[in-house]
Amino acid sequence: MIKAVRGTRDLLPPDTALWNFVEAAVRDVFRAYNFQEIRTPIFEETALFARSVGEETDIVSKEMYTWEDRARTFSAWALELLESIRESVGGSASGTLEYISSSKAQIEADKWKGQSLTLRPENTAGVVRAYIQHDLEKRGLNKLYYIGPQFRRERPQKGRYRQFYQIGAEVIGPASAGSESPARDAEVLEMLATLLDRLGITDWTLELNSVGCANDRAKFNEALRQALEPVKDKMCADCQRRAVTNPLRVFDCKVPEDQPIIQKLPRISQFLDEGCRAHFDAVQEILTKVGVPFTLNDRLVRGLDYYTRTAFEFTHGALGAQNAILGGGRYDGLSEALGGPAAPGIGFAIGEDRLVMSLQEKSSAESVLRKPDAYVAPLGPGMNAEAARLAHELRRHDLVIELGDETFRLKKSFEAATKAGAKYILIVGENEVKADAFALKNLATGEQVQVARGDLAQKIR
Ligand code: HAM
Repeated sequence: MIKAVRGTRDLLPPDTALWNFVEAAVRDVFRAYNFQEIRTPIFEETALFARSVGEETDIVSKEMYTWEDRARTFSAWALELLESIRESVGGSASGTLEYISSSKAQIEADKWKGQSLTLRPENTAGVVRAYIQHDLEKRGLNKLYYIGPQFRRERPQKGRYRQFYQIGAEVIGPASAGSESPARDAEVLEMLATLLDRLGITDWTLELNSVGCANDRAKFNEALRQALEPVKDKMCADCQRRAVTNPLRVFDCKVPEDQPIIQKLPRISQFLDEGCRAHFDAVQEILTKVGVPFTLNDRLVRGLDYYTRTAFEFTHGALGAQNAILGGGRYDGLSEALGGPAAPGIGFAIGEDRLVMSLQEKSSAESVLRKPDAYVAPLGPGMNAEAARLAHELRRHDLVIELGDETFRLKKSFEAATKAGAKYILIVGENEVKADAFALKNLATGEQVQVARGDLAQKIR
């Protein structure tokens, strides 16, 4: 038997009802904050993730599903080449010739090359790519959200999958549209608290930090490098490499023996400049005012390289080791790093699998599932058509109707109606059709009444 691949899973009813319940609440809450949906492709060019999430991160260095796509056809390649020539030299014929002769070797090498593609391990990079590609700057402040699958080759365990689902949001735009304001950070965090409350998830903790701007990070990285120099030989191979290439990533280390060393390293909070400190203070002030509780954690650096200033995680006790229900932060330099205009932004992604797991603690999928209001039971030959007509009419009144089959005996119809969890069973037999009134039985109380066609919807509701 062929089974679902390790780390992936089927979401089946009734559990999918809980997923739909979550997504409906998300769309409702996000709408109130004026967010609109964006859908980006599930795969992108590999370079997008390397340049945004960062080469040294676990995600990019170990966990991506990357493949060399089949070579482009020669004509597709030639079209792309013409496009790039037009972009770089404009319409001039002599410029074109010069471009071709100076890049001849590169052109020859590229001609049959495939493209490196990657299943998205996260969605922020795709959103920022779309922001740049479609010139979304024109719209001023963009408040975008997405719901969809992401892919990371992690070791599967409870709450950790290789295909998992994120619900995320990004606020991005030119600074003149207010994208850099601490008010945006606080708004996003307050929206998250509202969403969790709305879903009935109460025992969460918001951990908050500022990871500073590029300048602070350079100073912090230097301090880390110095602090690591005398001790790095005692650390794991990954950390020895990180100590040189990207010391911040040492904080991602999970090796128990390295933890005492990591504990003693400098903290980013010691390196924040005036502007970052003031920004962080302002975020905290608003959060306090709107009543969102938080805990400061200056060891929180997050596992992606693009973060600047505010970084945060919400954790939930019920989740065990994989307790981060969501994470996010600012990424003020990301658009520029991808070749776009300056576009400060802040966002987050909720692990939907984990969110649903925390919900399952309290409410079962059955409790949010809408069961059939009535089971329409055709009785005897020729009654399928009559039953279908009646079901069609009732469904137009926003009732959930399950439909039986004329070959079922009455007993079997009752069993099927009970199994489906229907409230009523509605019998459609020859006599009922003639009278244009139908036997309606409440399956819980056993009460049975004869109801005229026109009154049925009212009575069932
Ligand atoms: P992240 O912390 O890598 O951030 O992922 C966000 C959330 O996705 C995690 O807190 C976790 O709940 C869930 N998650 C991650 N990996 C897995 C997995 N293998 N299985 C199940 N759930 C998982 C980001 O992805 C950023 N793009 C968030 C962001 C948006 N920052 C700014 N804007």
